[in-house]
Amino acid sequence: MITETTRSLPTPSLTEPVLLITGASSGIGAATARAARAAGWRLVLGARSTEPLEALADELGGPDRALAVHCDVTEWDDQQRLVQTALDAFEGIDAAFANAGFGGARGFLKDSPEHWRAMILTNVYGAALTVRATIPALTASKGHLLLTSSVAGRRVLPGSIYSATKHAVTALGEAARQDLNGSGVRVTLIEPGMTDTPFFDNRPSEALEDDDIARAVLYAVSQPPHVDVNEILIRPVSQPL
Ligand SMILES: NC(=O)c1ccc[n+]([C@@H]2O[C@H](COP(=O)([O-])OP(=O)(O)OC[C@H]3O[C@@H](n4cnc5c(N)ncnc54)[C@H](OP(=O)(O)O)[C@@H]3O)[C@@H](O)[C@H]2O)c1
Repeated sequence: MITETTRSLPTPSLTEPVLLITGASSGIGAATARAARAAGWRLVLGARSTEPLEALADELGGPDRALAVHCDVTEWDDQQRLVQTALDAFEGIDAAFANAGFGGARGFLKDSPEHWRAMILTNVYGAALTVRATIPALTASKGHLLLTSSVAGRRVLPGSIYSATKHAVTALGEAARQDLNGSGVRVTLIEPGMTDTPFFDNRPSEALEDDDIARAVLYAVSQPPHVDVNEILIRPVSQPL
């Protein structure tokens, strides 16, 4: 029987779950947003480029379904605003995908020290800040934390500072998994091989598509509550390393 009391209680199973994504303006993040929306998730999308982000939020149904938030992941205030936007609009976060990142040339004499600084801050510090900013909400929802590492976070590549940053992300994911053990929060490292996105100035052939990685994210977040998919390493069939 439905009483006044039960009617006024929230009914989480009837609301669409909420996924927060950093690096959502392009590539893997944007493809994951589209796939998640198709699977019934509401979205909070963060990146620095507001124009593509807002276009994507409109495409995915506007403010009731998808919110665009300017967020430079290297800025703690931006990360906190991203989370607060999700809490204000959707009252919680069920999954957070720390995905923002970029690469660089291989070789210790390539790229500038400034490029290294920005890459390390974005890929490592930025991902750590996303974990820190989302943990309270994820703990409350017994939610799911996902981080984009890489094959380069599993295999050292010659002269690759990027590979060093992605090894750090792999470590962050495992550190978070152990730290959150017992909280009900699940943690998944997504480790893509070569994927055809704007990550590359010269777009690769025989690579994965961004949708291939989005399906891996959706697989991880679609498991029953007792299943924690800790790592998904995906290569295109032709990738040797
Ligand atoms: N493509 C591959 O082969 C491959 C393989 C393994 C792992 N990955 C990883 O996958 C993730 C997504 O890359 P992608 O391939 O989808 O490349 P992408 O299309 O270039 O997307 C990178 C995303 O990161 C965002 N971003 C970069 N710096 C940021 C910052 N400081 N603050 C907030 N957002 C920032 C970009 O948005 P704004 O520029 O608008 O901020 C963009 O949305 C990265 O972590 C990358 O390292 C890619």
